[in-house]
Amino acid sequence: MKSALYNLYTAFVPHHFLNIRTHKKKSSVTLHGLSLQFKRLHSSMGKDLVHSSTSIGKFLPQLFSVAPMMDWTDNHYRTLARLISKHAWLYTEMVVAETIVHQKDNLDRFLAFSPIQHPIVLQIGGSNLNNLAKAAELASAYSYNEINLNCGCPSGKVAGHGCFGARLMFDPKFVGDAMSAIASNCDVPISVKCRIGVDDRDSYNKLCDFVDTVISRSPTKHFIIHARKALLNGLSPAANRSVPPLKYEYYFALLRDFPEISFTINGGITCIDQVNAALSIGAHGVMVGRAAYNNPWNTLGHVDNEVYGAQSSNLSRRQILEKYQLYGDSELGKYGSNKPNVRQMVKPLLNLFHSEPGNGLWKRKADTALKHCTVSVKYYA
Ligand SMILES: Cc1cc2nc3c(=O)[nH]c(=O)nc-3n(C[C@H](O)[C@H](O)[C@H](O)COP(=O)(O)O)c2cc1C
Repeated sequence: MKSALYNLYTAFVPHHFLNIRTHKKKSSVTLHGLSLQFKRLHSSMGKDLVHSSTSIGKFLPQLFSVAPMMDWTDNHYRTLARLISKHAWLYTEMVVAETIVHQKDNLDRFLAFSPIQHPIVLQIGGSNLNNLAKAAELASAYSYNEINLNCGCPSGKVAGHGCFGARLMFDPKFVGDAMSAIASNCDVPISVKCRIGVDDRDSYNKLCDFVDTVISRSPTKHFIIHARKALLNGLSPAANRSVPPLKYEYYFALLRDFPEISFTINGGITCIDQVNAALSIGAHGVMVGRAAYNNPWNTLGHVDNEVYGAQSSNLSRRQILEKYQLYGDSELGKYGSNKPNVRQMVKPLLNLFHSEPGNGLWKRKADTALKHCTVSVKYYA
């Protein structure tokens, strides 16, 4: 048991953490001191399950969240995720600010969600201050629980828009001003999702400068740290999620150096044991992306019980499919012929039996049924 805990601990806090000097010229800390400090942080901010209260309602704190993922964490996936976990926080895929501004007469298509999806965070992307402010204002009508700015996406090409995502980390003042503008136009908490660095702007001090500048120019109190840097030239978005090494030590150093700020750790966390290991050494919250999408039952299915210590819904996968069918029937074609279509509705279900015997058969059957089905999702449930 002791060695298992030690392995988990070292996975998150590599020994070279000790070489990271504190920001603001504090002395470096010992491993022992670090672990005590994490324990204190943890007991004051994490597992005590104080409800986080917003104008929209009361929810358990953001100990576990599902990452924003373009084309993946759409309304359909989030509906499935909510059927599996009552308490996980769900992030939308990124919605570009210009889309919100230019589609203001058609906003439901981009921003509407079922109330069961609370607690839910809207992620927006962009680099035009006015549009970000306007987008936050327009989104307010939809009662998201938090608005998040994407400062981590390595591609400038998404939706054909210019500078946004990780590039914004080159200009911390702009991010601070953008967050201030967003905050002035909504009445919910705001947050930034960023990398630990970009290209050769990758030192811990630069990361601290970024956080420092943003919090000094805006009321931002929450950062989600994808613990690898982004390389803007030459790596595809997918490679940018696996090639640059994870440096969790940067994350834990931020906890130490900005005790007034809430930080969520993200990147490479694949199971609930790792989520709980990170929380147990002080992480304020853990965000999981690919594992929550590729293996929803085995990740989200443990969140309510094992992360929140709360009662889970105890729905079987059959019951979940039955409920999802009702949702599917009500959504098909809602925004015009084939919008959404059956394939889009069924896509999140394909991973429900991930790595279980019969998973291949389930996927093949769903695929065959999709080929013959034109109007209803009933075939798949
Ligand atoms: C298909 C896909 C789409 C993504 N889209 C976004 C996005 O819109 N906004 C964002 O901040 N991150 C995006 N990400 C990055 C994830 O939010 C997350 O930071 C990354 O996958 C690392 O977490 P993980 O190792 O738990 O997957 C995306 C990741 C994937 C796999």
